[in-house]
Amino acid sequence: MISSEIVANSELIYGAEVISDKRVAVIGYGNQGRAHALNLRESGISVIIGGRIGSISCAQALADGFQAQDHLQAVAEADLVIVSLPDEVHGAVCPTLFEAMNPTAVMGFLHGFSVHFGQFKPPKDRAIVLVAPKGPGTALRERFLQGMGIPSLLAVHHGGENPKQTEAIAIGWAHGIGSGRAGIIRTTFRDETETDLFGEQTVLCGGLTELIRSAYEILVEEGYPPLLAYTECCHEVKQIADLICDRGIAGMSSAISGTARFGAIDAGPRVIDSSVRARMKDVLRDIQSGEFAKRIIADAHQGSPRVIADRTAAANHPMEDAGRQLRAMLPWLKNVDGTKSP
Ligand SMILES: NC(=O)c1ccc[n+]([C@@H]2O[C@H](COP(=O)([O-])OP(=O)(O)OC[C@H]3O[C@@H](n4cnc5c(N)ncnc54)[C@H](OP(=O)(O)O)[C@@H]3O)[C@@H](O)[C@H]2O)c1
Repeated sequence: MISSEIVANSELIYGAEVISDKRVAVIGYGNQGRAHALNLRESGISVIIGGRIGSISCAQALADGFQAQDHLQAVAEADLVIVSLPDEVHGAVCPTLFEAMNPTAVMGFLHGFSVHFGQFKPPKDRAIVLVAPKGPGTALRERFLQGMGIPSLLAVHHGGENPKQTEAIAIGWAHGIGSGRAGIIRTTFRDETETDLFGEQTVLCGGLTELIRSAYEILVEEGYPPLLAYTECCHEVKQIADLICDRGIAGMSSAISGTARFGAIDAGPRVIDSSVRARMKDVLRDIQSGEFAKRIIADAHQGSPRVIADRTAAANHPMEDAGRQLRAMLPWLKNVDGTKSP
């Protein structure tokens, strides 16, 4: 049964202060870990970082003013352990973290993947929760600094000894990262995991990028200048995405030209036709059956050859040159570290 429910305002009396007396260990200081740790600290919560001592991410945590310890030391005294490690390593790392944790502590995930697909099988009497921000760590941090937040999904897999207290801790954590300013939506590990994978594969990260690359390649093959092809089919995505985000698809549609609107009606369903929808359903079945999970874990065990090959191919694609050329004209674009975008 697919379920979701917005956490009611009355429950939001559990603000970040509900965990202000708790010790929080953030394990892993990458995309999400850094944003969670910084936002929580600025919400008045005591945070310690667990990492591989001497690694680049530990050095970053120290530079940001955190105490960084070995994973197992960091979790030993914590009341809430936030696992912000890549999903593929949870199966190997989480059992050891779990053994080192206080039995009354809560283990928190940012995505339900490893628990839902059984890479990590925590005992039923221990508290396991999920706070999944609906966006990358950079957005989580930027919105927080702007006084806003991004919505998070929240789920309790096992409530532990005190289920009410376990959920209150998860709500406090969601508040601490700024999601209380945006929206906290209750769901289950299963629904979070499967909708997240489907959305990122068919739309956000897989479908959208293939659509952009295909459109760019067609225009260039037909003799149009790469800079025009890039500007139209890639760069402008953000303007349209912002309109959709702010106003919905119907609202975006009323903000574009009549020509664009008619073209969308005329061509959109020919591009995304029933054969595409059938393949999108295949992708969902592949996720639901656990076959996708098996492939990503197998790739990770072999040193991630598919991921590495794709990263190289993407970096070497000719459209990246057109992208650099365009971004050079936009001096306000910045990398995460504040340097000018290449
Ligand atoms: N990225 C997103 O946009 C996003 C959005 C929502 C949810 N999530 C979820 O957030 C979680 C973390 O994702 P992420 O993208 O933030 O991960 P990430 O940036 O790839 O995580 C990097 C961190 O994990 C550590 N790490 C990597 N392999 C390790 C290992 N074998 N043992 C110990 N530490 C290891 C790294 O330490 P070293 O420096 O020592 O290598 C580094 O501190 C995942 O569950 C993901 O699904 C991510």
